[in-house]
Amino acid sequence: MQHRTKILIAADRHFDWLSNHDTHLSRDRIRQLIALQAYLVAETEDGQTVGFLRFNRIWGTLPFMELIMVVPSFRRQNIGSRLLQGWETMMRQADEKVIVSSSFANEKVPQAWHRAQGFTEAGTLALGSFQREREVFFLKELR
Ligand SMILES: CC(C)(COP(=O)(O)OP(=O)(O)OC[C@H]1O[C@@H](n2cnc3c(N)ncnc32)[C@H](O)[C@@H]1OP(=O)(O)O)[C@@H](O)C(=O)NCCC(=O)NCCS
Repeated sequence: MQHRTKILIAADRHFDWLSNHDTHLSRDRIRQLIALQAYLVAETEDGQTVGFLRFNRIWGTLPFMELIMVVPSFRRQNIGSRLLQGWETMMRQADEKVIVSSSFANEKVPQAWHRAQGFTEAGTLALGSFQREREVFFLKELR
């Protein structure tokens, strides 16, 4: 079933949902990132939050998508694509030319998703004791 969703910059009212779903970060950090407008969320017509995209900038400049997640029961309905499109629009408005993202090198779904969005593989990093798997980086030129 297709759901109509809107994409918006996360606000304080999304804090509880983000705290429950962005499990990598502390609650304090999530609060800071909401204030910095570093999250986009996808919301259904009836106000349910069903996905988020968190971004940052490598070296303080290069736009980097840190994490995108769509709630499992809402996947494959274009919501991840729409979150990315929302972020791309923001980055174009900021006059950015390139965006970067990454995923575990051994996970097929995020790689298929990145390729479907027009990202190309830019190389992998071995991250030592931080992470067992290599991380694969993706790059997309914004046109
Ligand atoms: C990756 C993720 C965000 C994709 O979100 P989504 O809303 O399901 O993706 P979309 O519906 O926008 O998919 C767009 C296209 O990507 C590709 N794709 C998406 N999921 C796929 C899958 N499971 N297998 C193969 N291709 C897939 C397809 O080409 C798809 O188009 P189609 O459905 O018309 O075939 C979602 O699977 C997710 O939350 N995964 C867990 C978290 C994660 O791995 N995040 C990425 C690392 S940062």
